[in-house]
Amino acid sequence: MDVDLIIKNANLSNDQTGVDIACKDGVIISIERGINANAKKTIDAQGHLVSPPFVDPHFHMDATLSLGTPRMNVSGTLLEGISLWSELKPIQNVEQIIDRALRYCDLAVSMGIGAIRSHVDICDNSLKGVEALLEVQRKVAPYIELQLVAFPQDGIFRDPNAKVNLINALDMGVNVVGGIPHFERTMQDGADSVKFLCEIAAERGLMVDMHCDESDDPQSRHIETLAFETSRLGLHGRVAGSHLTSMHSMDNYYVSKLIPLMAEAEIHAIPNPLINIMLQGRHDSYPKRRGQTRVPELKNAGINVGFGSDCVMDPWYSLGKADMLDVAHMGLHVGQLSSRLDMEWCFDAVTLNSANIMGLEGYGLKRGCKADMVILQANDKIDAIRLRANRLFVIRAGKVISTTKPIHAELDLSERPKKLDPSEYIPKT
Ligand code: FE2
Repeated sequence: MDVDLIIKNANLSNDQTGVDIACKDGVIISIERGINANAKKTIDAQGHLVSPPFVDPHFHMDATLSLGTPRMNVSGTLLEGISLWSELKPIQNVEQIIDRALRYCDLAVSMGIGAIRSHVDICDNSLKGVEALLEVQRKVAPYIELQLVAFPQDGIFRDPNAKVNLINALDMGVNVVGGIPHFERTMQDGADSVKFLCEIAAERGLMVDMHCDESDDPQSRHIETLAFETSRLGLHGRVAGSHLTSMHSMDNYYVSKLIPLMAEAEIHAIPNPLINIMLQGRHDSYPKRRGQTRVPELKNAGINVGFGSDCVMDPWYSLGKADMLDVAHMGLHVGQLSSRLDMEWCFDAVTLNSANIMGLEGYGLKRGCKADMVILQANDKIDAIRLRANRLFVIRAGKVISTTKPIHAELDLSERPKKLDPSEYIPKT
């Protein structure tokens, strides 16, 4: 058998270790122990974890890497971030947005991200962000699947031009409908905006992903309307609620009714742990709310939950490095997802679950799936999160597109080991 690439001695999961993966014409054609094949390229994974690529289901690529332009967010709040973004929008041009986005995509590839859903702000009559990110989408298509959401940052009703701009953005090729009901002027406007936007998606056969209830206000209940409209319009499985932070503060009795409604509508949930822990609870003294939606309860109700990164070095968040394991690490801690099964689930929340949200085809490590994968300097999923593991090889369509040398420390201590590999520090069980 002639193949393009064979990866030897890979760990895929706890019950699938030491297997070989053969790839041909951009597709995985075999996964089993001891594959005998003539390969153009062979990689020895040395028992390290091989995963499908990381998937970021919630990002803002039109704002990324703009930190400090034109100034820093002093209060650290969501609302100052939004007003700072309004100062930046008129002074940036298409080329600058493209340049920053491409630099981010390079970083994302090196960190093993294979797909990103990015919101793009359409509250700008020039639609510069849309023009720029559609160009970026074309440019990065060979190595990142970039899905764009038409996002009315200033409110589809609150901004007088947003309705026209949103339709224009969809006509230009943006293919997910966004929203921000909690930013509309009134609760009623918020609820009406959800109905309006879901109807547009239903008419056009599109997916929906709304910033929904990104607030500490327990009365912000637009997720209820989003679930209702999803069911009413038959959009099951095609709608995501992003952030959902108000659920953290809601009354338990109300949530006991809400979560089954979300499950019935097959809504996907996208918490953004790094950003939510940073932005929420800013009006609290102590005790200070954590501001992450109810991840364990959503998960246990059978709702598909994927963690998003949301921001990297922009008006809302000064840190970040395209590391979805950082995102999983924070989500795990804030959600107190500490059992072995829950920690493994956190890895799935930045891979399989998020791929499900985006509707990615051919995703996964199975025969017939796309030959897209990452070899991590870790033994298993939990170790990968613990270490925020090094990405040794990033593979796309059966070709290596990024490599990072293994990290190890050289120690100079008498009668002690001289070399310390973090992935081997704890003996394999
Ligand atoms: Fe966001």
